[in-house]
Amino acid sequence: MEPIATMENTLEPVAQHTCSWLNNSMKLLNYQGFWNIEDFHEGALLAQKTFMAQSSDVFICSYPKTGTTWLKALAFAIITREKFDESSSPLLTTLPHDCVPYLEKDLKKIEENRNNSKHFPLVSTHLPYTALPRSIVSSNCKIVYIYRNIKDVIVSYYHFVTKLSNTRVVDAPFEEAFNEFYRGISWCGPYWDHILGYWQASHDDGHKILFLKYEDMKKDIASNVKRLAEFIGYPFSNEEENAGVIDNIIKLCSFENLRNLEVNKSGYHRPDDPYRVENQLYFRKAKDGDWKEYFTDEMIEKIDKLMDEKLSGTGLVLK
Ligand code: A3P
Repeated sequence: MEPIATMENTLEPVAQHTCSWLNNSMKLLNYQGFWNIEDFHEGALLAQKTFMAQSSDVFICSYPKTGTTWLKALAFAIITREKFDESSSPLLTTLPHDCVPYLEKDLKKIEENRNNSKHFPLVSTHLPYTALPRSIVSSNCKIVYIYRNIKDVIVSYYHFVTKLSNTRVVDAPFEEAFNEFYRGISWCGPYWDHILGYWQASHDDGHKILFLKYEDMKKDIASNVKRLAEFIGYPFSNEEENAGVIDNIIKLCSFENLRNLEVNKSGYHRPDDPYRVENQLYFRKAKDGDWKEYFTDEMIEKIDKLMDEKLSGTGLVLK
């Protein structure tokens, strides 16, 4: 970690880190206590300084690899259900990430659409709560936050970042990836601080932030989809429920359905980006407990202890 500035309130990142386990192909910058991929830093700053949230906005906030793709698909399907049903949804031909603009990258597009009266309420971001544009915090908009078992996040993150177009590291050492994540150095990390920021804010204002847990959604998707729809202001009517609208949205957005769509099996997300991502990388296994294939007993002990320390008194369970 090389310190490059120490002044408080500086707009410069205060440290940088190059991931050696990725053959030095990924550089992270630390700003306001969190790490970001270098390529996203400028967009994050610009959004922080200029983005104006509206009260009808709904923000999908998450740490990477916690189920963002699924949540985006569900929220998009819920909000657009009057216009599109399961046989005409853009989700059938468009990657969920291309259906919902990403604040750190799509600021200009979001603003252009708004200026042209094409307001679409959904916006996604991986920014930590403390780094959100102030207008998001102060307006009456809604925030939906998804989180997931830390061990599965580490494994999912490991696979994802080793396969980006400018990393492509075969057989990257999982132990080094684990150790770095454990030290809090990861894209948007420390993961626990990311969650704690939103958790604290949700306690301060429960009307503004809905907390969803990936594993709970898998256990009971129907009631979580209903909760989500109600919270974001698009509740299902009894008629819709009886007509199977909720079930259809669940099927449309299911892992099995999305991963088998042609669009999600081929092509790239942000093809012109240095970090362009093959669409299929967003749909890996979606298996709870996949971490058991990767973690040693020592890693389990270390991460469980860390979670006990970091999350004590919150009721949050990430193990
Ligand atoms: P795995 O790598 O464990 O398979 P994100 O969307 O935040 O990048 O998270 C990616 C994780 O969510 C991946 O986990 C991916 O397989 C899983 N995922 C993607 N689409 C999903 C869906 N529709 N339902 C459940 N999980 C999904």
